[in-house]
Formats: sequence, structure tokens, C-alpha cells
Amino acid sequence: MEFSVKRGQPHQQKTACLIVGVHTGKALGPSANEIDKHLRGAIARVVKRGDIAGKPGDTLLLPDASGIEAERVLLVGAGRRDGIGAADYIKLCRSAAQALRSHRLRNAVTTLLEVTVKGHDLAWKVAQLTRAAATAAYRFDEHKTKSSGSVPGRLGLACADDDAAAVREALRRARALAEGMKLARDLANRPGNVCTPSHLAETARDLGARFTALEVEVLEEDDMESLGMGALLSVARGSRQPAKLITMNYRGGGDEKPVVLVGKGVTFDSGGISIKPGAGMDEMKFDMCGAASVIGVMAALAELGAPLNVIGVVPATENLPDGNASKPGDIVTSMSGQTIEILNTDAEGRLILCDALTYSARYEPAVVIDIATLTGACVVALGEHASGLMANDDELAADLLAAGERSGDRAWRLPIWEDYQQQLDSPFADMANVGGRAAGSITAGCFLARFTRQYRWAHLDIAGTAWLSGKNKGASGRPVGLLFDYLMHRAG
Ligand code: BES
Ligand code: MN
Ligand code: ZN
Repeated sequence: MEFSVKRGQPHQQKTACLIVGVHTGKALGPSANEIDKHLRGAIARVVKRGDIAGKPGDTLLLPDASGIEAERVLLVGAGRRDGIGAADYIKLCRSAAQALRSHRLRNAVTTLLEVTVKGHDLAWKVAQLTRAAATAAYRFDEHKTKSSGSVPGRLGLACADDDAAAVREALRRARALAEGMKLARDLANRPGNVCTPSHLAETARDLGARFTALEVEVLEEDDMESLGMGALLSVARGSRQPAKLITMNYRGGGDEKPVVLVGKGVTFDSGGISIKPGAGMDEMKFDMCGAASVIGVMAALAELGAPLNVIGVVPATENLPDGNASKPGDIVTSMSGQTIEILNTDAEGRLILCDALTYSARYEPAVVIDIATLTGACVVALGEHASGLMANDDELAADLLAAGERSGDRAWRLPIWEDYQQQLDSPFADMANVGGRAAGSITAGCFLARFTRQYRWAHLDIAGTAWLSGKNKGASGRPVGLLFDYLMHRAG
């Protein structure tokens, strides 16, 4: 998707589709009003008839627009004329983008920056419009023999001359974010036989070659052995694909302490010996969405040249059954020295993350955030709307929740009180890797908390948000938006 700034009057916009807002109470927005004069009142008539009420989420395509330069007009409900809330603006951005997609319109000019949103500025509106457009226009057809092979779609953002500089600057960020999200989605959508741990490592290396500020290092299983990463290696035992520990060091922020992002990179999770049921198991190719979001956000930061220090750490492996695979009851020693009884080989995410988290301490991080498709229980608790957030630091948690709200990529906090820790007790080792059915997401978080005591840490469980199931199956690119917003906000 390509974005550009459009100056000039709405009726002068040459495009396949001009998008304008209509408000509740049968009121046209300024751009709708301007073009309506050239359309001899066509918009006012359909609004008066009640064909579109103007609620955020409403859309109506006028397929003919003789009298203006655009070929068509998409009317979009923009709520109350005196201003709407953030959630409604996000909703109208999404429905406009969805309408373009369903009408197969790849080029459009939007005037929706003129809608007043309470508590948010122009840059925020640019971010929402572009994110919705890029998200809806995305397709993954790398493996279709008849791929659409089409040129990227184009969205122009109409704005007043005085705003053009601000919109242009906001677009720079928006493009970087859109590219990072696309990379994350592509990686996640690739099948497990293509997107292996080595493929993730290659992708990271390519980025390292492209950006001088990004240094990439890949540790092999031998290196993990020397570091004592017994937990991570115990998951890799059942796989013929070699595990990788990928680190991506982005230096854009002088000598300040880095933010470390740790992303779960299980490129296929069969459950291992504690094998999963067959139905829907294909979706476990998405078990590397944490890794994909880390790689995507690193790409966005590097592309933008963001003034920050951020390190991405990705433990990558498959989880498969094999004669050499870990078995229930096996006990392993993590890099931290703590021993773990593996009661269920399907709770593999925490096993690879705990060693990556211990490893992360060497960077003397300002904060560490891990991102993982960690528990089915999180899907039950929060569904597809919010990622689960757990943290050992209230300020960090608040900052991440705020970034989620701003970006429309929301999270919701769950407690990781000491009370839950006893569920992980084991008679044979320092801890078990599962804590029973109750509070499954929380006990997973509590497990990780035992490896993060030396720094400020947060955990995002993205099992429900990272991809959609059913007929719209595919990666969502979340939580790249949340992370990018958090980091850019930190950068000031
Ligand atoms: N990758 C899964 C979590 C998952 C399940 C994500 C369904 C999205 C949808 C993870 O490795 C896993 O298998 N977790 C187990 C943990 C259990 C054994 C304690 C789960 O959630 O069932
Ligand atoms: Mn699993
Ligand atoms: Zn998993």
C-alpha cells in the first residue's frame, strides 16, 4: 500500500474513489458538502432518504460521480459533527477500508482527516487511516500459482495546505509501521515447511544487511549448549530443523539502556509427545507470531531510523514428537540454573522463553517485554480483541496499556500474584512447566516471572490476537502496532 498527501479541493481529486464523511442528523461533512455542489445534490438526496444514517461503521458507495474528477464516492458514517471518540474513529477507518476491499477498489483518496476526534491529533488520525487501509488491503498469495501479482494499492490523504507538513511527517512513521506489519504477517502466514527457524534467522540476517544500525547475530545449538540453555534445547530435541537464537541489535539511541523484546518463535507446535488433537492443528504454524512481531517492529524502527536502542531476541524451534523428543516427566536445567519438570511437552513456549529471558539480562535492559502465543487459556479469557498483559512493574504495564489504547491494538492486564505460584510446585524439580487448568495464562506468566526478577519486565500473551481463524484465517500483524507505539512514545 502506498500513501501520499493530496492537496487541493475534494472535487479536483482524480481517483477511483473519493471517501467523504457524513454525520448523524443528516449533516454532510465539509468535503461531502463541497463535492455535493458539483454532484447536483446527489449526496444530500441519499442522506435525506435515509440510505446512510451517518453512524461510524456505515458505508455507502455511490458508483457514479459525474461532475467531479473522482470516478466514485464512498460515503462513510462519521458520527456526530462536533466530534467522535477514538474507538468510533478506528471503527470508521476499518469500515471504509473494508468497503474498498469488498468493492475491489485499489486506489482511493480519503478526506476523513477532517473528522474531529476528541483527544487526538492529526498524526493519530493518519496512523489510524493508514493502518486500517494497509490491514484491509493485505493479501498473502506467495503460494498461489495464479498470484494476483498486482501493483500495491494507493491511498491519498487529502488535507488542508497548512497541515501538509504534519501529515507528511506522520506518513513517514505510518509507512515504516505498515512495512513492519506486512513483514510480520508474511512471516506468520508462511507455512511451517517454509518458515522454519532457519528462515526466521535468514530474514533477520537480511535486515541486518540492509540497515547499518541493525546488527544481527544467530546462535546455533552448540552455542546454546555452552550457555546452558537446557530448557530451550529440550524443546528442539524432537525436531530435525536446527534451533536458532536470533538477536537483532538496533542502535539508534546513543548510550541509553536498551529495550529488549523477546519473541516466541515456535515455527510449528504439534504439542510434541503431549500431542495436540488433529483438528485445526495447521494453525500452530502461527506459533511464531511473537517472533514475527519482534522482527517486524525491528524492521520498522530501522526503516524509520528511530532514535532508540532496541534489541530483539528470538528463540526459534519446532515442537515435534520423535524418539529423541522430551517426554512428560523429564527434568531439565534452565540457563538460570533452576530445574524444570516437563509435565506437558505442549507447554513449550515458556521453556524456550525462560532461557531467552535469562540470556536477555546480559544487555542490562531498561525493560524487557516478551511477546508470545503462549496459552489457549488466553483465547478463552480475552478472545481476539485484547492481548493478555502481565508485568512485574506497574509503570511499564500502564505504558503498554496506554500504547494499546492509542494504537487501537489493545491489551488487558492480568495479575501474576504470588498466590498463583504454588500451582507450579513440583515434588521432583524446582518447578513444573504447567500449573493445571485454573488460570492457565496467569500460571504461564508466573512461570516466566521466575526468570525475570533482575529487571523490569512485561509479558504479552497474543494467542488470541495474533491471527484470525475461520474464513478470514491469517495473521493480523498484532501486536506490532502496540509495540511500535510504545517505543515511539518512549523516544518522545
Ligand atoms: N502455542 C500454544 C498456545 C495456543 C493454543 C495458542 C491455542 C493459540 C491457540 C502453546 O504452546 C500451548 O500449547 N499451550 C498449552 C499449555 C498447556 C499445556 C498448559 C495450552 O494452552 O493448551
Ligand atoms: Mn504448545
Ligand atoms: Zn506453542
